[in-house]
Amino acid sequence: MTERPVDARIPGFYKLDLEARHAELRARFGLTDADLDVLANGAGLRWDRADKMIENCIGVFGLPVGLGLNLRINGVDRVVPMVVEEPSVVAAVSNMARVVRDAGGFTGDADPPIMIGQVQLLDAPDPEAAVAALLANRALILARANAVHPNMAARGAGARDLEVRRFDAPWPMIVLHLLIDCADAMGANAINAMAEGVAPLVESLTGGRVCLRILSNLADRRCARATCRVPVSLLDTPDHDGREVAAGIETAWKFADVCPYRAATHNKGVMNGIDAVAIATGNDWRSVEAGAHAFAARDGRYRSLTEWRVEGDVLVGRIELPMAVGTVGGSTQVHPTIQVLRKLLGVDSAGELGVVMAAVGLAQNMAALRALATEGIQRGHMALHARSVALAAGAEGELVDRIADDLVQRGEIKLHTAQAILQSLREADA
Ligand code: MEV
Repeated sequence: MTERPVDARIPGFYKLDLEARHAELRARFGLTDADLDVLANGAGLRWDRADKMIENCIGVFGLPVGLGLNLRINGVDRVVPMVVEEPSVVAAVSNMARVVRDAGGFTGDADPPIMIGQVQLLDAPDPEAAVAALLANRALILARANAVHPNMAARGAGARDLEVRRFDAPWPMIVLHLLIDCADAMGANAINAMAEGVAPLVESLTGGRVCLRILSNLADRRCARATCRVPVSLLDTPDHDGREVAAGIETAWKFADVCPYRAATHNKGVMNGIDAVAIATGNDWRSVEAGAHAFAARDGRYRSLTEWRVEGDVLVGRIELPMAVGTVGGSTQVHPTIQVLRKLLGVDSAGELGVVMAAVGLAQNMAALRALATEGIQRGHMALHARSVALAAGAEGELVDRIADDLVQRGEIKLHTAQAILQSLREADA
């Protein structure tokens, strides 16, 4: 485990070139030359290793890794690796984390790492008796589940409890939930193996027929939460009073709270940050996505994952969502880049990782709502997008920023304009 950085603020990090950023990582987080080599040029995952991860492998796909800065969570500084192709996501998190930091940082907590394994039971001759039999044989079923994974039980984790859900028309069935403590793993393999392991017992206890045996991605027993409390005076901008900004953020949240069309976009922004950390830490981001959106619809209407309210002179933001992530198992140990990024993040448990991800989601959402409720999203977005356009036009090295600046100044961030600028710069050089 790396030592905690004293300070997650690295002033001017974004202005440094790549070499200088790596020098900071070496000095502040003790990354070695070998670690930095893994990060450079997407060299981490070799294709012969990738070939062992999936089928029909033909290569390795690169994505940028950015470092989210300024986060202070429960009094601990964190720099957060984020893998994402969209400009402005890393900057947004870092900027809002800096504002929240000035207000004392985020607080957060996570539930115990309980996941749900589902066993679908059909054709029970007497459904009521079947439900009663499953509940009466709780200890036997849990023991059978834990026998599938004795190591897990030995580490103090494993199947803890069960519950039974009964569905009637139009599709009568009984569904057994195994509630499994997965410790610091996401747990998918163990959960599925346990669900499969108890199936014969479930059939013999009920006289029914088991069909599906699989985890649920609605991991609502394993939620993470984060909160921030920001005095409105910290939200002042050159063009807007902080109180106005805070009120705008609250109004933007209300829009997502009442309207699913807006909530989908609002939550997409939240997941911009959360997915980026999930990928950087080797977690199954599709699972986190599925859990988040199902949770957002838990009361029958799809709503915001966050809540923003102005309370007196303070803007209070909260987020809660399922966080089925692990710090051991899965691809966390297979991908060399992930191992280096984990050194930077330095979390000790899955619960801690979940809280970091929740705070990142809240920061991301705060940035989006602040921009949307004031100057609009396009100004900041387009300035960053200009670089991608310059790259797409064929610019390289220092020409990328030169052309991007030019595009922004012209207020015309278009591919053909970038191509024309590049052409004229090349002609001038020649
Ligand atoms: C873009 O990737 C995300 C936003 O649309 C989120 C939002 O609207 O809240 C800016």
